[in-house]
Amino acid sequence: MKSIKDEIQEKIAAAFEAAGYEKELAVVVVSNRPDLCQYQCNGAMAGAKKYKCAPIKIATEVVEKCKALYGDSYFSLIDAVMPGFINISIKDSALVEHLVEVAADPRFGVRLDEKDNVVIDYGGANVAKPLHVGHLRSAVIGESVKRIKNYMGHNTIGDVHLGDWGLQMGLIITELKERKPELPYFDESFEGEYPSEAPFTISELEEIYPTASAKSKENKEFSDAAHQATAELQQGRRGYRAIWNHIMNVSKADLKKNYDSLNVHFEVWKGESDAQPVIPSMLEDLINRGIAYESQGALVIDVTEPTDKKEIPPCIVRKSDGASIYATSDLATIISREKDYAPAQYIYVVDNRQEMYFKQVFRSARKAGFVKPETDLKFLGFGTMNGKDGKPFKTRSGGVYRLEFLIKDVQDAVLKKILENRTVSQEEAEETAKIVALSAIKFGDLSNAAVKDYIFDIDRFTSFEGKTGPYILYTLVRIKSILAKLLESGELDELEKVAPGIKQEVVTLMSKKQEELLKGAALKFNTAGLDIDEAAKDNKSLVALVSELSGFAEAIEAADADIAPHKLCAFIYELSDAFNSFYHENRISGEQDKNKQALWVSLLELCYSELSICIELLGFNAPDRM
Ligand code: ARG
Repeated sequence: MKSIKDEIQEKIAAAFEAAGYEKELAVVVVSNRPDLCQYQCNGAMAGAKKYKCAPIKIATEVVEKCKALYGDSYFSLIDAVMPGFINISIKDSALVEHLVEVAADPRFGVRLDEKDNVVIDYGGANVAKPLHVGHLRSAVIGESVKRIKNYMGHNTIGDVHLGDWGLQMGLIITELKERKPELPYFDESFEGEYPSEAPFTISELEEIYPTASAKSKENKEFSDAAHQATAELQQGRRGYRAIWNHIMNVSKADLKKNYDSLNVHFEVWKGESDAQPVIPSMLEDLINRGIAYESQGALVIDVTEPTDKKEIPPCIVRKSDGASIYATSDLATIISREKDYAPAQYIYVVDNRQEMYFKQVFRSARKAGFVKPETDLKFLGFGTMNGKDGKPFKTRSGGVYRLEFLIKDVQDAVLKKILENRTVSQEEAEETAKIVALSAIKFGDLSNAAVKDYIFDIDRFTSFEGKTGPYILYTLVRIKSILAKLLESGELDELEKVAPGIKQEVVTLMSKKQEELLKGAALKFNTAGLDIDEAAKDNKSLVALVSELSGFAEAIEAADADIAPHKLCAFIYELSDAFNSFYHENRISGEQDKNKQALWVSLLELCYSELSICIELLGFNAPDRM
């Protein structure tokens, strides 16, 4: 579907052609002088060289043709100004008519891409270590990126890619052995079946790991034992494998719970361990084809390229002690993913600090031919979440901040506000606080470009005003309650006379879950009885709202193209602002001009739908009331 800019451009292009100039000159852009006009076309300047004449001559002729072609039905202003610019504004009715078309489209004008498989590698939790705030960003950003890709029509595969094969496993095994040496897992002669019940709970596990980790830093013997246990686990020692299974089960259940509470859901729960079976044949193949070679005992892939300005160190795929490492798992994982999905695109949502690492992995994968040359390998790096002091986020006592505590803190802050403002039951307030807190956390994160560091400021994030998640939800809830009131008061029944079907449309919309709107949400505007230009006269907030609503497709397509959820956040913030101004400056309930009121209701419905779709794509929900 054409954007409003495309629509204008098409009209100007026809005028260029009619005036005898090539239509490709008719590039229309948003005006950089909004005080003068909405759009502008500088094509006459470009054409002057080609046609060897003054640009103003071309501009003037094009403007003449425009006036002849369209009269005053479309443009409210079309002017040639020195030295050859064309200033353009369109009539409010043209703007609204375009919006009517947008609304009638089930995707509100958003393009649908050809279906590709897209793997999003995000989350990246490490098994047996508690989720901390460092993992928050990957989960929040990755989930949104996945939802956007999915809405654009792709088959998205979100893989949590657990860190489940490292030294932490050996540390836990070693610590457990010290505490409970009598367990059968440590008896190498044991041939029976191991207990199905894990020898620890999740809270014990969460205590065992940091204890063991601290011990290994002080105690060399313990550290050696942990390395040894890790190696034995990786070589398949039966008892250790059984402990590993217990750790995985207990830890995964807990991780799922945590991710669920963030409204983050993975299609695939694989990890580094799943890549291990692929590794031996992969290394053999890399050696045989001369892609990997020995260097100081290690096996490496040279990934330098002639155009490099900085040195890129080789990618190590096997250490000198024979152990495979992080990169080995990631390369093997690519081989598995190619077999399973042959994705057109991979998106890795990982801390900025791993950028160089992923460059090495991507280059290695290409060099080895593990992916097709046209496969898009993207690293979406994110910055650090800092506290108000500008330093990485910590607890008040300086320890690692566990994610669940952070969520709880934000919920408490929101709850306090809700209880201050309203008299709702404690139970409802708590439910609402959970929903609103998530919007505060996610919007606070996603409204910044991922690559940047940001300051996690609970007070600011939970504010009901300003660029925050709660403000967006507040706007949504406001629209919902206005529509509900119109329904209850019978005003919608009256509107039926000028806008048949409008009541049912509102009822249907209100009953839909926000995720259902992704599947299609067309709305019918009834503007036949209304002189829009008259209604919009001196009504700046109306025109602003209509313009914002028209920008939906552009915002989503930009967020997709640049893998940038912050563009969606910016859009819904501007839209909410535009709506709230409109709301303050116009009567909705009680508007006597029924044709006008019908348009107002349609705008409310569209605004509600667009906001709902966007927050669904960002990964949070709206409560019924706030
Ligand atoms: N577990 C890793 C970490 O905590 C993140 C994993 C990122 N994904 C990947 N394919 N390497 O740093």
